[in-house]
Amino acid sequence: MHRLTVTSYRLASPKLSAPLSIALVSDLHGTCFGPRQEILLDAVRREEPDLVLLCGDILDPAVSPKGSLILLKALSASYPCFFVSGNHEEWTRQMPRLRNGLSRLGVRPLRGETISEIIAGQRIELGGVDDPHAFTLSHHSLRLSKKWVRQLVRCERQRDPEHFSILLSHRPELVTYYADTGFDLIACGHAHGGQIRLPFCPGGLFAPHQGFFPRYAGGLYRLGDARLAVSRGLCINRLPRIGNPPELVVIHAQPEAAGMPDASPQACSRLTGKHRQNAQSQA
Ligand SMILES: [Fe+2]
Repeated sequence: MHRLTVTSYRLASPKLSAPLSIALVSDLHGTCFGPRQEILLDAVRREEPDLVLLCGDILDPAVSPKGSLILLKALSASYPCFFVSGNHEEWTRQMPRLRNGLSRLGVRPLRGETISEIIAGQRIELGGVDDPHAFTLSHHSLRLSKKWVRQLVRCERQRDPEHFSILLSHRPELVTYYADTGFDLIACGHAHGGQIRLPFCPGGLFAPHQGFFPRYAGGLYRLGDARLAVSRGLCINRLPRIGNPPELVVIHAQPEAAGMPDASPQACSRLTGKHRQNAQSQA
């Protein structure tokens, strides 16, 4: 029996004029937290987010889409929702259809663009790139397409540096590409927390595209002036998870002047990364 956890992180930015709560939902892979996703939805509602970031692998072609669609529909009815693809969605080669469906549900897909939205009474810049598998037919290609890099550069150019900016990207391991983009927060998934977390490997045992003892498997990390938030994901219907329960991430971003100076990522996690066991998975 897996329990859903909620991990909270705090960060501060002088670009914010008001608090901003960001829910990060990633790597659901069609998992159902209750017949109507009520466990996961209740967990999101308790956090009262201002927006929801969907960082890929929400749908999985090997799993019925029903649970994912229930979740997407309910989230988009209550919150501004933004989506980027994960590798499992790209492997379907059905992305135009999927993006149309998401748009009809009120979820905003982002692919190689940065848009401005008024959220919590302030302008927020939101960029997003496709999973790199949008550009290769190989399931395990290690080569990063120039088309993906062009998407990222376009996001960077369209970003207004005066305003707090968030980049959505499924892949946490591409940190060298994110570091100089100027985005204040990069939100990722994909690593599933390194699947197995034991005392000798608290950062996880293995993550795709990072290998054993992955560096960016779940947490809040510092990338120069930016922060990288990596969700451990919500999937419990693929490989077994050990010591690594499914996770909803909530980032509480505040104006720097509010008396909460930013800290190192480790300090952020220690101070605020409370894992609350507040719901039971019925999947
Ligand atoms: Fe993935």
